[in-house]
Amino acid sequence: MALNDIQLSSYGKMSIQSSPVSRMMASFAVDFRDNYDINLGVGYVNEKTIPRDFIQEAQENVLLNPQKYRAALNYGGPKGSVNLKKSLKQFMIQNPDNGLDEELLADKEIIIGANGATSLLEGLTQILRKGIVITADPIYYIYCNFLERIGFQILAIPEDEQGIRIDILKEKVESLGNRKHEIIFFDIVTVNNPSCIILSNERRRELISYATELSIDLDRKIPVILDKAYEGLVHDSSISGLQSGFVYDPMNIVYEIGTLSKILAPGLRIGYMIGENNDFLKGMIQRVSDVGFSAALVNQEIASYMLDHHAAAQIGKVNAGYKDKATQVKNWLNQLLGNYLETNTGGQAGFYYYLTFKTIETHDQSLFFKYLARITGNPDIDGSEDKKFPRIIYIPGTYCVHKSGELVEIGKRQLRLSYGFEDLNSIHTAVKYIKDACDYVENHS
Ligand SMILES: Cc1ncc(COP(=O)(O)O)c(C=O)c1O
Repeated sequence: MALNDIQLSSYGKMSIQSSPVSRMMASFAVDFRDNYDINLGVGYVNEKTIPRDFIQEAQENVLLNPQKYRAALNYGGPKGSVNLKKSLKQFMIQNPDNGLDEELLADKEIIIGANGATSLLEGLTQILRKGIVITADPIYYIYCNFLERIGFQILAIPEDEQGIRIDILKEKVESLGNRKHEIIFFDIVTVNNPSCIILSNERRRELISYATELSIDLDRKIPVILDKAYEGLVHDSSISGLQSGFVYDPMNIVYEIGTLSKILAPGLRIGYMIGENNDFLKGMIQRVSDVGFSAALVNQEIASYMLDHHAAAQIGKVNAGYKDKATQVKNWLNQLLGNYLETNTGGQAGFYYYLTFKTIETHDQSLFFKYLARITGNPDIDGSEDKKFPRIIYIPGTYCVHKSGELVEIGKRQLRLSYGFEDLNSIHTAVKYIKDACDYVENHS
């Protein structure tokens, strides 16, 4: 007797199919050939930036010092390691540029996510009422895809070279009419993923000021979540003094989410959130407990040790590496693709370039994509069935722009290229193939 299927929640039903990007990446991963195919799509950090020796030293010290690092291999509490929270506050205060001091942080609470910043972003969706989330377009597609599956709506506002456009934001919010009351929170990635556009201080101030006005208008606090995942990776020395959102926040509506993934190691899975100590934060702490009791305590203590002893050297080293890569890759992009490109953002922070081509389409049905995936059907381009030529993976802009935003058309001519994971030689090879793909498309249109 055939039974009916297991009953799924609406989120369960929405999650049967993985997101378009995951599907694309998975289809490449199946037969990815190491040292042959080139992955400019993944958001992985560069392996060379991960301080294995420091981590080993930190682990040893944590385990040898149970007075300070108590019961590090036992369960942790949902509020997070006291050592780590202290190290994080100290780390923030030590940065001379961000405008933070003891006084500004005195009444702020830090919580540590169960599994990186991602788990805190997830927590927001459980603790906050469902409704509209405002973000910048192009969007952080991983989180926005999740937000939509779990029942939020996205209002994606285009950005310019300083970040989210406040003029358009105001217009779009006004045009919501009564639905304005459905706005629940802002989610703003301060070095945006995918564009790597840095939210300038001026724009931070304007954004928080507008969110404050909106909060007054709606008679409730609208939290501004600043996702600072890449803010430790500002490697262009002409950019300095990026200020914490708290500097502009008289009504305590700003919450900052950070991660040690990019500056230490994603494998430690340490992400944190800091903001006013209130019911919202209490709910977030309970959520940490509900999904895993705490982040692995030993990792929290290792992270604490690392921040106390090696933060400056480690961040300096990581950024020197990415700066070098960003400069080289930019030269190749200019030399080889300059004629084809309309604009190119990134290269100052994080590890993505976001390219906009003048005419060449990049989406997964385009000839350009097919050329680089070696699925044109032409063996001169694809190679033989047994030995396809090297494939180049990137994230097409169609996945990075919101489907009901203003960038849908331009998104068809955009792509995100990561210079994080692959080494420079491979990236150079890949850019040459991208140029070949452009030439091919030009000759076939
Ligand atoms: C904007 C943004 N936020 C958060 C994360 C995830 O951070 P974590 O590794 O701490 O979960 C990423 C990872 O790439 C990211 O790009």
